[in-house]
Amino acid sequence: MKMKIAVLPGDGIGPEIVGVALDVTKAICEKFGHELTYKKALVGACAIDDCGDPYPESTHQLCMESDAVLFGALGSPKYDNDPTAKVRPEQGLLAMRKKLGLYANIRPVTTFKSLIYKSPLRTDLIEGADFVTIRELTGGLYFGRPQGRSENGDTAYDTCIYSRYEIERIVRLAFGYAQQRRKKLTIVDKANVLATSRLWREVAKEIAKDYPDVTTEFLFVDNAAMRMIQWPKDFDVIVTENMFGDILTDESSVITGSLGMLPSASVGVHTSLFEPIHGSWPQAAGKDIANPIATILSAAMMMEYAFKLNKEAALIREAVDASLEQGYVTADIAAKDAPSYKTSEVGKWIVDYIKKA
Ligand code: IPM
Ligand code: MN
Repeated sequence: MKMKIAVLPGDGIGPEIVGVALDVTKAICEKFGHELTYKKALVGACAIDDCGDPYPESTHQLCMESDAVLFGALGSPKYDNDPTAKVRPEQGLLAMRKKLGLYANIRPVTTFKSLIYKSPLRTDLIEGADFVTIRELTGGLYFGRPQGRSENGDTAYDTCIYSRYEIERIVRLAFGYAQQRRKKLTIVDKANVLATSRLWREVAKEIAKDYPDVTTEFLFVDNAAMRMIQWPKDFDVIVTENMFGDILTDESSVITGSLGMLPSASVGVHTSLFEPIHGSWPQAAGKDIANPIATILSAAMMMEYAFKLNKEAALIREAVDASLEQGYVTADIAAKDAPSYKTSEVGKWIVDYIKKA
């Protein structure tokens, strides 16, 4: 198969973790006889520094022409500590999601045997937890207008907006997922307070009638946050709006033992995008210490979602599992008093595993 990939390393640790995921992708293509071509482009703070635009048109064109986008992370303290900055790296990510029409962000959570002890949660609560959160990605508070400040600067406002159409397409996608899995869908909202949430609930109830084989459950987001930690095994598929999904998926990473483990796929109208859920960790940039696994597992999701290559995805996951079991891991997930390895060393180990498999 021919694969054309847009590679967007982004900022901070992005270039290191994407470099490793690209090596893994190359190894997989070599092994299975796929023809890989890729081009790199800028997004985030590095793109602002280069041309003043966090998601330049040339980057967008490359994404549109490609079969998949492999993305690292973006953000920089230079902008985090300057609330007056008019152009921010995060706007690049939002523009990319919006312009590519990536309305669904799929964030799976599973536990890894060798990492269970790393989680602050009790083993019996999390062992075997296996759920996926589908986060709406192009609406809600992130994109609602008006957004801004009053003239005197003493008042600020964001707007949460959802239309029936936006809710319907993602809720249907989530029901489809639930049908392929354990047939349970949890819809997370705050319908006791928010008008947008009441519309979500109304629309979801109507759509549920088309999926009688799926058990539908509604949870308020505060309650969901608690249950996710207390009974993570109760969940199969969760669907929720943008901001709730952002928060809940970071929370869900605690179940796996490290934020450095969670991959994601963003799908929608145009080219799908694959990225780790963690951020750019600027303090670690260039130190070769970041955990590359979330990005490697995002490459596995890319094989599956963008190219329907399940065997290729399975081999990547097998290689990751093997590195975890043998303790060939970065410091964030290394056992107490056990050695830990650099980003590039873990990457090389996983690439070698794939070559030998
Ligand atoms: C994520 C990130 C982004 C988000 C930031 C960097 C804008 O936290 O992908 O979860 O809030 O969506
Ligand atoms: Mn986030």
